[in-house]
Amino acid sequence: MELKNRLVRSATYEGMADRNGFPTQDLFRLYERLAKGGVGLIITGFAFVTPDGKSPFLGMQGIHTDDHISRYRELVRSVHESGARIAMQIAHCGRQTTHEAIGTKPMGPSAVFEKSLFVKPREMTEEDIERIIEAFVQAARRVKEAGFDAMQIHAAHGYLINQFLCPHTNIRRDRWGGSLENRMRFVREIYKRCRKQVGDDFPILIKINGTDNMKDALKIQESAVMAQMMGEMGFDGIEVSCGIMEDGFSMLRGNVPIEALLSEWPMYRSKGLLFRFIMKCFGRKIIKPPPMIQSYNRESAQIIKNRVKVPVFLVGGITDTASMEEIIEKGDADYISLCRALIADPAFSEKIRSGSREPSRCIHCNLCGAYLISRPLKCYYGKKIEANPS
Ligand SMILES: Cc1cc2nc3c(=O)[nH]c(=O)nc-3n(C[C@H](O)[C@H](O)[C@H](O)COP(=O)(O)O)c2cc1C
Ligand code: SF4
Repeated sequence: MELKNRLVRSATYEGMADRNGFPTQDLFRLYERLAKGGVGLIITGFAFVTPDGKSPFLGMQGIHTDDHISRYRELVRSVHESGARIAMQIAHCGRQTTHEAIGTKPMGPSAVFEKSLFVKPREMTEEDIERIIEAFVQAARRVKEAGFDAMQIHAAHGYLINQFLCPHTNIRRDRWGGSLENRMRFVREIYKRCRKQVGDDFPILIKINGTDNMKDALKIQESAVMAQMMGEMGFDGIEVSCGIMEDGFSMLRGNVPIEALLSEWPMYRSKGLLFRFIMKCFGRKIIKPPPMIQSYNRESAQIIKNRVKVPVFLVGGITDTASMEEIIEKGDADYISLCRALIADPAFSEKIRSGSREPSRCIHCNLCGAYLISRPLKCYYGKKIEANPS
């Protein structure tokens, strides 16, 4: 896959699908703006591979039935006509969802309580594991049939594949847990069977955590070995991110928008007054979000880049052009992935191409992330927010 530049729109949940996971016209318009705004590659927001893998956020895309193929084919055509390439990110939420969102008890590799959504998942059986692997394979087939240029497997941010990799969420004692080789078995099986399905010449990318930012979870030394194994398996590119939801949203360094979370997220709205009062007054002290710094996953990417032969994508807190250039010149990563910078301004890449040295206007308030639970994606900073539609 050849890209016209090294700027990538990192997967960003848009909340612009209908209740059955079909993309709406809003999504067509957003991708057209991004493509015309100059990025080389758009990676879609994560799409669920089975309905029990859906997120609690509003309007998630699905790739779980063959009926979806023709609509995505139109979406891909429109992005190509606007001058960019497009990859679909596919995922299963595992324990990072709610009973209300999926209509059944969430599951994970182990029954480890999830502290940000207050969910105790059930442990997956061998049959569950086989069913989900096969769902990824069928999703991969649909992605290719819809004409996407590539697919990306979401193995970061505390979703199901990351849950298998991470020793905090995977405490199984069978062949799916324990050693790194065992924790890798789930993603290895998914990769092997997806590759067989889509053939050797279809790019399969993966997004991983350099660190899960939890005490008993993945650290960069282990992630680097994991990335090397992924490169050797045949993944065509590795995007390096960090964090899981219950670590306090460290994948989105910046502000923790406590007030928005308390007013929008049903699991927080339904909590008693005392909880809400404590969170309002001391939430940031309790969560202790790490400070926003430029390119905060750069060190992880550097370490991983030294161990793998495939292209590395760096995401996280990249907002200024000088640091983008330095990352590429020093060889710390091959591609620059941007999420919030492009939410704030979908034409940011085109501005850089035409010589602008202005940094992104995103101030990392993270309102875009908090409001996804009930509203479609946009930059909410400085905007008047209507009352919660639900
Ligand atoms: C609103 C929003 C939606 C996101 N949706 C996804 C997603 O669907 N898949 C994913 O891998 N990461 C998702 N992320 C994480 C971003 O891709 C990225 O890893 C993170 O925001 C750090 O990059 P940035 O500093 O450029 O925003 C999302 C982030 C935000 C703010
Ligand atoms: S709402 Fe806007 S300014 Fe705030 S983090 Fe999102 S894109 Fe950036």
